[in-house]
Amino acid sequence: MQHQSKLPNVGTTIFTVMSALAKEHNAINLSQGFPNYPSSKKLNNLVSNAMNNGYNQYAPMAGNLDLRLAISNKYQLLYKSTYHPEKEITVTAGATQAIYTIISAFVRHGDEVIIFKPAYDCYQPAIEVNGGKTISIQLSAPNYKVNWEEVASKITSKTKMIVINTPHNPSGTIWAKDDMLQLQKLTKDTNIIVLSDEVYEHIIFDGEQHQSVCLFDNLKQRSFITASFGKTFHNTGWKIGYCCAPETLMTEFRKVHQFNVFSVNHPAQKGIADYMQDTETYLGLNDFFQQKRDLFLNLISESRFKFQPSQGTYFQVLDYSEITDEHDVDFAKRLTKAFKIASIPLSVFNEEGKDDKVLRFCFAKTDETLVKASEILCKI
Ligand SMILES: Cc1ncc(COP(=O)(O)O)c(C=O)c1O
Repeated sequence: MQHQSKLPNVGTTIFTVMSALAKEHNAINLSQGFPNYPSSKKLNNLVSNAMNNGYNQYAPMAGNLDLRLAISNKYQLLYKSTYHPEKEITVTAGATQAIYTIISAFVRHGDEVIIFKPAYDCYQPAIEVNGGKTISIQLSAPNYKVNWEEVASKITSKTKMIVINTPHNPSGTIWAKDDMLQLQKLTKDTNIIVLSDEVYEHIIFDGEQHQSVCLFDNLKQRSFITASFGKTFHNTGWKIGYCCAPETLMTEFRKVHQFNVFSVNHPAQKGIADYMQDTETYLGLNDFFQQKRDLFLNLISESRFKFQPSQGTYFQVLDYSEITDEHDVDFAKRLTKAFKIASIPLSVFNEEGKDDKVLRFCFAKTDETLVKASEILCKI
């Protein structure tokens, strides 16, 4: 049978490639973004309780109501922002599904979607499989600052959506209030939808505030927020997330969601809802990861890598330009094979593979792993 691929340029993701290489060479894996310590025992027990108490059949299409209430309360507590639990919040199979479904629900053939590169790798294929056109804006190391005049110049009558991500994977930078105000100004009086990927909202350092789209009234009216419990509760394998948006947008989202996923793992939703009754479960995350970032950076301060401390996410970008001028993919592979440490080269997230000579390291690891990894990095 002959068929023409809808995504001819898509291959295996760099995460799969680097994790497989790490396994093959028995390397410390700081490449893929997942913790190597357990999910909370209390949370695991709450999920088991939910199973034992009968939460084993389909959850409501939009998600377990206790969980939607817990999410709604979180937005009141953190941002004084109201999302109606019945109409404006939907639980999804991870943020990835929320992102895919948002794009599918709104992007038509020929619509333009602006994304900022380096970009998390699920945005572009989702746009293109739905017939949309990706308009990339390339940001540069080390600050990854947005030039808002450039953004203004890329907006056309075909711009359907702008995808943003703060705190930002892979760079570990965050957007300032002024960035959000600029975005609000540019999109005001347009029909542009903003997809705000906020999966790292609870991992932000040095006392900085997360700039959620829901803090900006006009922006909130046109925006989806996507979030991931896998990132917040250290269990990426559960694949539970959610999205929030004003009712008119959420109604369209659910038209697609109910026929592609219908509903998400019920006992995990109920367990997470009960766990979130203690707000420290998510409010304590900044301190937890700041300790890990600081440990990692102190340990590598004498190495030949240069860095600006990560401002958010559990990723640290390291500049290796004083060590070698090898291409970042080659260097990442060599580090994995010869030095037994795996990372992610940033060029794979860039427009036309732009190589800034930086690698991304995940510090959501036990302190013991971070110590071992740092010993290696100091020898390179
Ligand atoms: C920026 C960003 N968005 C979305 C996701 C996907 O989240 P989930 O695992 O909940 O699908 C990730 C996961 O790494 C991410 O880093």
